[in-house]
This record gives sequence, C-alpha cells and structure tokens, in this order.
Amino acid sequence: MGHNVEVIKIAPHLGAEIRGVDLSAELSEDEFDAVHDAFVDNQVIVFHGQKINAGQLIAFGNRFGELSVHPFSPNQEDTPELIIFDNNEDNPPFGTDRWHSDETFRAEPPLGTMLSAKIIPAYGGNTIFASMTAAYDALSDRMQNFLDDMEAIHDMVLFRKLFGAGEDGLATLRKYEDLYPNPVHPVVRIHPVTGKKALYVNPQFTLRIKNMREDESRTLLDFLFRQAETPELQYRHQWKVDSFVFWDNRSAQHYAPHDYFPQRRYLERITIQGDRPFGPAGPTYFLQDNPEAGDAGNADAFGGHRANKRPIERETEKTA
Ligand SMILES: [Fe+2]
Repeated sequence: MGHNVEVIKIAPHLGAEIRGVDLSAELSEDEFDAVHDAFVDNQVIVFHGQKINAGQLIAFGNRFGELSVHPFSPNQEDTPELIIFDNNEDNPPFGTDRWHSDETFRAEPPLGTMLSAKIIPAYGGNTIFASMTAAYDALSDRMQNFLDDMEAIHDMVLFRKLFGAGEDGLATLRKYEDLYPNPVHPVVRIHPVTGKKALYVNPQFTLRIKNMREDESRTLLDFLFRQAETPELQYRHQWKVDSFVFWDNRSAQHYAPHDYFPQRRYLERITIQGDRPFGPAGPTYFLQDNPEAGDAGNADAFGGHRANKRPIERETEKTA
C-alpha cells in the first residue's frame, strides 16, 4: 500500500503543509505513519480545505492517542474533550496572547493540540509558533550545559482569575489546587520520539526555577522566555476557513494575538494526552504540599522530591 501524502516545508525550523490527505475519511496505516512522521519532524503541520466536523476531528485525534480534557475551559456536555473557541464581540479571547506550550501546569501536559478553523476574521487572528528545539540549539554550549539539569515549577496561573475572590470561588480554587498540584518539569525537555532537546519553560505557566534565588530565577526565566520571540525561529500561521493545524507541545510553543477582536473567530480544538516530561537529568516529581516549598523553590529543604500522590483526574464541577 502506498500513499499520496506530500510534506512541504513552510518555514526554516518548524512548519510543514501536508497535502494528499482527506481528514474526513479514516487514514490508512501508511497515511497515518506519514502524517505522524511529519508531525514529530516538523513540530507544526498544516492542512487546507479540510471540511471536517467535530466527530471527524475527534476520530482523527484518537489515532494519535487518548484525548485529554481541559480542566478549566468550558466544553461540550457530551464531548468534554472538544473545546469550541467562538470568540466575538461578546466573548473576547482569553489569555492566548502569551507564549506557551499547552497546559504545562499539569503533570502530563497534552502532547499535541489540533485546531480546525470554521470562521475566520477578515484580518488578524493568526497563530504564531516557535521552535523550542531550534531555540535550545541556538544557545551557547555553556548555556546549554548550565540549563541541562535544571527544573522549573509550573502553575495554573492564568486560570486562577476564573475563580473570583469570593469564599466559594476560593474554596473551588483550593480543590483544583489539590487536583493539579504544581508539577516540576525539566527546563530542557527531551522529546520522547525524536530525542531532541527543547527549551521547556514558558511565561504562561512557569513560575520559577527550582533551587535558585528568586532574583536569579527571574533573570534567567526572562532570558529564556525571550528566546521564543526570535522571528527566525517562528512560523506564523494565517488561518483560512477549513484549515487544520496540529502542533507538538513537546517541541514548539505558540502565541495567538488578540488582534482580531471584536471580529468573530470560530475554531474547534482537541488535545492528545501526553506523558510525563523528562530532561537530560531524568524524571521529575511534584513539590511537597507544603506551600513554603513552592515559594522557596527548594524541595530539597523538605526531603527532596516526592512522587505523584494520586492520578490526575478531571473535576466534574463546572467553573466557567
Ligand atoms: Fe494554547
């Protein structure tokens, strides 16, 4: 069995357009393998003219693994794995205009995200991607060695404001903090398929570098956050109706400017479950529950790391 999958690079460090595939139909094994290879090699893959409905989007996503459910985004009752971004005058976009890899406040952030565009604004509303493997490669050997065994503490920062300051809001927030304790992720992540190293801190969810003074951590993080801003490391995607994009959260970050507001932009999103990030120094663990631990950024003061105390599961209560 052959296939007609064509992979056309569209930027120097990440991004490829895929042709010769109909995502509304079930892909053959050969087609799937070609698409999967293109995905991990190119970090962001783009398809045009894909008239797929939510069911077909979910079916395609399932070929790559179990789908994950976002704990804070409003979602559909019967398909909680589907997120609809219907942004317009009455529903401004929320918090996508910062560099990030999706949901790194979780112990096992989604490996990839799929977006299918249905309504696009006349201008604006692009998504910008940056290759974090290229960002790592561009650093000096000295800086790479310095970073290689570092770990950073991540947090659901962005979503805290959804809970409000009232007593009920704070009680719900405490519950979510318990369900999603701050994970420690490697600063340099090794991609589990390609083995490549990527910078894995982001201004959306990374709080601080572990075992560093606050001012050291701040200075280093500010420097690392800036790396995604280098235009040469980026691919800027201009959406068309029925465009479909699938990106690898393990090797790329993205930024979606809110520059189309108040125009309408309607996209459907799903995410594929990922695994526990690891770096050159091996696996990472959670901080102690002790709130001092997060603040001090020094788990060693509390006997070092500990393993996850319970599996991450979705809280069924709606918050938004
Ligand atoms: Fe995102």
